[in-house]
Amino acid sequence: MERNYPHSSLVERDLACIWHPFTQAQTEPPPIAIVKGEGAYLYSDAGDAYLDGISSWWTNLHGHCHPYIAEKIANQAQELDHVIFAGYTHPQAVTFAERLLALFPQDYSHVFYSDNGSTAVEMALKMAFQAKGNGKKLLSFRNAYHGDTFGAMAAAGKSHYNQHFWPYLFEVHSILPPFSGEEEKSWQEFENAIETGEIAAFIFEPTIQGAGGMLLHSGEILSKMIKRCQKDGIITIADEVMTGFGRTGPLFVCSTLQTAPDLICLSKGITGGFLPMGATVAKKFIFDSFLSPDLTRAFLQGHSYTANPIACAAANASLDLLLESNCSHARIMIESEHRLFQKQWKSHPKLHRCDVLGTILAIEYKTEKTSYYHPLKQRLVDFFKAEGVLLRPFGNILYVLPPYCISRMDLQKIYSLIAITLEERS
Ligand SMILES: Cc1ncc(COP(=O)(O)O)c(C=O)c1O
Repeated sequence: MERNYPHSSLVERDLACIWHPFTQAQTEPPPIAIVKGEGAYLYSDAGDAYLDGISSWWTNLHGHCHPYIAEKIANQAQELDHVIFAGYTHPQAVTFAERLLALFPQDYSHVFYSDNGSTAVEMALKMAFQAKGNGKKLLSFRNAYHGDTFGAMAAAGKSHYNQHFWPYLFEVHSILPPFSGEEEKSWQEFENAIETGEIAAFIFEPTIQGAGGMLLHSGEILSKMIKRCQKDGIITIADEVMTGFGRTGPLFVCSTLQTAPDLICLSKGITGGFLPMGATVAKKFIFDSFLSPDLTRAFLQGHSYTANPIACAAANASLDLLLESNCSHARIMIESEHRLFQKQWKSHPKLHRCDVLGTILAIEYKTEKTSYYHPLKQRLVDFFKAEGVLLRPFGNILYVLPPYCISRMDLQKIYSLIAITLEERS
């Protein structure tokens, strides 16, 4: 039956029927209705342009509605929309898996497709527990974020993101990440955890914790931890959902670590920001450990839309663009602009820190209390929105994580607005 909306504008209709993610509907301003995307910009139904400074939740790589990806999606939609992925396969999934694996060292042999970042993590956790579990625990970094499904929530340990669900989460062993100046303490906590003999798997966001506040830690110590785990047969899981596909400069952070983890979780930028898809990349020894004449020893997991052909076509098209030299030049340009900003502003008295990693710039304002719910968040969101820039801080931590197609001029626009927030009297 057709619904009869009593409201006129799209926003009024939205407010009447939609429950938005990460939103307090009672207090937050109504959403902006976006009707078009092009390059680094989104356009509202009122005709206003918004520069997408966070790549629409870190998904977009090459710009909105990139014509090349749009064309490949359109072609695929006319060829094969979807097919069950148990007992059947299709060219886009196979091609993407082959191409993805070619980007990693040889010991990775198989790709397990799923629907998003959380499910890419869920699949990795289940692979690790089924292969090694025996009731043992997961080791993870404090301050982590691995997604919103129960396993992914539990993996992160107790945090403000999952506080309503603490009684329902499985127990994890949480340790301090190797933050600068805390490497020794972190290593000690790590060793203590390993020595319990209780650890089945270790999950981490390599070198930068995204939703925890864009916090950097030592890749060198992390590599040592991975090596140590592997010595004891503990499965190591890199959650590259945010960092993958060039976000930190190289295609994957894992390629910069001295020791390669056993499982790698990917999503977000995987389709260039067009369609939801997740992938868990596994080393051969993990895949092989599920082989048996006994069906029940198989990995009996998956989702209805696993390896959706249209999403895989988007992933192949996005990878074509990602591997072009233009794209790496664009990422280098963004990083060098970020670094110029950092040089100029890092010592500002209102800043607690100013960090750059690849295309990510993160600044932390000095505030009396630091919290995800700090009121500065909404003030910053409103200020940038009024100036036509989409940014979404974590409390007092503001970050810029743009699509790779962003121009120098648009980066300067963002920096000069940040400068206003630092220079204003308050
Ligand atoms: C590191 C990391 N892992 C997993 C996720 C969950 O991804 P999704 O929101 O697609 O489920 C996120 C989302 O921000 C993330 O940053």
